[in-house]
Amino acid sequence: TWTMVNIVDEQIERVRAEIGDKRVICALSGGVDSAVAGALVQRAVGDQLTCVFVDHGLLRKGEAEQVEKDFVAATGAALKVVDAQERFLSALAGVTDPEEKRKIIGREFIRVFEQAAREVVAEGGEADEDVEFLVQGTLYPDVVESGGGTGTANIKSHHNVGGLPDDLQFKLVEPLRELFKDEVRRVGEELGLPAEMVWRQPFPGPGLGIRIIGEVTRDRLDVLREADAIAREELSRAGLDRDIWQCPVVLLADVRSVGVQGDGRTYGHPVVLRPVSSEDAMTADWSRVPYDVLATISNRITNEVREINRVTLDVTSKPPGTIEWE
Ligand code: XMP
Repeated sequence: TWTMVNIVDEQIERVRAEIGDKRVICALSGGVDSAVAGALVQRAVGDQLTCVFVDHGLLRKGEAEQVEKDFVAATGAALKVVDAQERFLSALAGVTDPEEKRKIIGREFIRVFEQAAREVVAEGGEADEDVEFLVQGTLYPDVVESGGGTGTANIKSHHNVGGLPDDLQFKLVEPLRELFKDEVRRVGEELGLPAEMVWRQPFPGPGLGIRIIGEVTRDRLDVLREADAIAREELSRAGLDRDIWQCPVVLLADVRSVGVQGDGRTYGHPVVLRPVSSEDAMTADWSRVPYDVLATISNRITNEVREINRVTLDVTSKPPGTIEWE
């Protein structure tokens, strides 16, 4: 029978045969697909694999640590972490246009990853130990969408990364090419990855950068990270993780409103909760989250995050709204 164990074993054998004794590199994004693909390749070829995690500072609370600590603990993979937070922040300074943000984040990601890949190649020493393979977390629906061809040397656009330069040519290893998302999650569990990583909801490659309406700054990221963590925690506590497709929390950083707290007047920022139900993100409806849960989220955010004095709910379906605000 076609069990998860079969799938995992078969893919491990295939990856082993494909890579042989060559070296291989994998970019971890913090997302499910790259983590599962990386874990599978690690199981297949051990320390021939080097994972690279570019920390762009736009992940949610605890997600960078999940990659740096939990992924490594679960897989034993060799990991190179590049702290590029300052670099991304300076590149994003003064930028408010959503597509401009995406372009900048994608561009900087390529540059940083490229540099890290060069370092990994250089650390390899002997020419015959060169890094030849790049792991991609391509899923079956991606294969179908892109016409089914096997690519070489470019990181898929859903990672927001375009082509790598010509002198960094890799062959692609795509161990998830035949799997759907739910199967990938089960493979991840089978490989012992942490549940929070395997069951993570969809999260855009540009991360919190497109959930701050206005300029992205370190302070704003910190504020949004706190509010987002509270919303996630309360939705999980209410058992709604599997009902809700995803729940962006959006910081309206350039909007202020008057509030009152204790004896004092406040003049803070609003956040928008955007819980949606969906099958595939092409269309979506706003989730009817119970009022009590919304009340708890609102109370906690306004009490615990000083800069936020108003919590609002987005009740727009897609279309006409998109899931993200940018
Ligand atoms: P929208 O906002 O278009 O989002 O309704 C549909 C789905 O795609 C995700 N999304 C992105 N994912 N890079 C990504 O990797 C992006 O630039 C991006 N923009 C939106 C969004 O979170 C939702 O799941």
